[in-house]
Amino acid sequence: MTELVQRFYDVLEQAKTALAAVDGEAALEECRVRFLSRKGLLPSLMSELGKVPAEEKPTVGKVLNQVKQELQKAFDDCAEKVRGEETAANALDVTRPGRARDIGHRHPISQVMDMAVAIFRRMGFLVADGPDLEDVWHNFDALNAPQDHPSRTPEDTFYFDLDKRSWLDPETMILRTQTSPVQVRTMKAQSLPVRIICPGRCYRRDTPDATHGMSFHQIEGLYADRHVSLADLKGTLAIFAREMFGSQTKVRFRPHFFPFTEPSVEADASCFICGGKGCRVCKGSGWIEIAGAGMVNPAVFRNVGYDPEETTGFAFGMGVERIAMIRYAINDLRLLYDNDVRFLRQF
Ligand code: PHE
Repeated sequence: MTELVQRFYDVLEQAKTALAAVDGEAALEECRVRFLSRKGLLPSLMSELGKVPAEEKPTVGKVLNQVKQELQKAFDDCAEKVRGEETAANALDVTRPGRARDIGHRHPISQVMDMAVAIFRRMGFLVADGPDLEDVWHNFDALNAPQDHPSRTPEDTFYFDLDKRSWLDPETMILRTQTSPVQVRTMKAQSLPVRIICPGRCYRRDTPDATHGMSFHQIEGLYADRHVSLADLKGTLAIFAREMFGSQTKVRFRPHFFPFTEPSVEADASCFICGGKGCRVCKGSGWIEIAGAGMVNPAVFRNVGYDPEETTGFAFGMGVERIAMIRYAINDLRLLYDNDVRFLRQF
């Protein structure tokens, strides 16, 4: 009697081991035939129950039934696992079209900055860098800005610690209002020739509107050497304008004033939309302003320790937002900062 029970338990153990190794529908079926089918191990043991003495039948029968149920359950669990795996495998249909992923791209401001940097690098300019957090000396004094220049007032410039310091103190810290202080830093650190561009962020206390923000980007350029002329400046900006706006683009200079250049000019590019005939983008004039520029004032060379008699150079500064707005015909600067993907996606 106990011997029969023992054999039942042996079959259950064998079945469990076999089921654990099942790796698919075929192996599962093999197990079913071997243990559960009509000629399988379990039913054939069941038939031996007839040889058990009548008085022991109820107890032995009960144990055998438990074993049978346990085996059936082990089999069902295994079947469920195998079938689940096969459905998951069928769900992977490699012929289905892929799901497009939204990948970002560089912001239009960065794109224009990268383009401009690439153009100037091809002309031999190196990229220079300077801090956004500047002192008054580098941003104003060294650049020959008179103390009463309107851009120096706290209404126009972001100052730090004005409760403790004067805004005329050369060491007072500000957020730079232009990238021109990078010229000063580079010339102080290097000897001639210097040929750099500095792309970077600037800050001014403007009320934001369609063409002004509190912060914007400039690209500063400086070429200081011997015998640099205004013609070199014009040639450099002409190449830039042709590369940026198209090969037919021309450049013209209008007289202007900056404290750090003499003479100073504003540089215009012929309108790349109408070719100079006059349109909405150029407001009918045929020309679009692209940069402030000029020949470096000898006072600046003196301030950085260069010999003003020997040294000549040109400098220019252009607004990146402005260039981006012209190039992409964007009519409101704020669109560039709203970070609305429906807008940004177009570039
Ligand atoms: N820094 C000037 C500005 O902010 C631009 C400029 C740079 C002009 C270099 C001349 C030379 O307007």
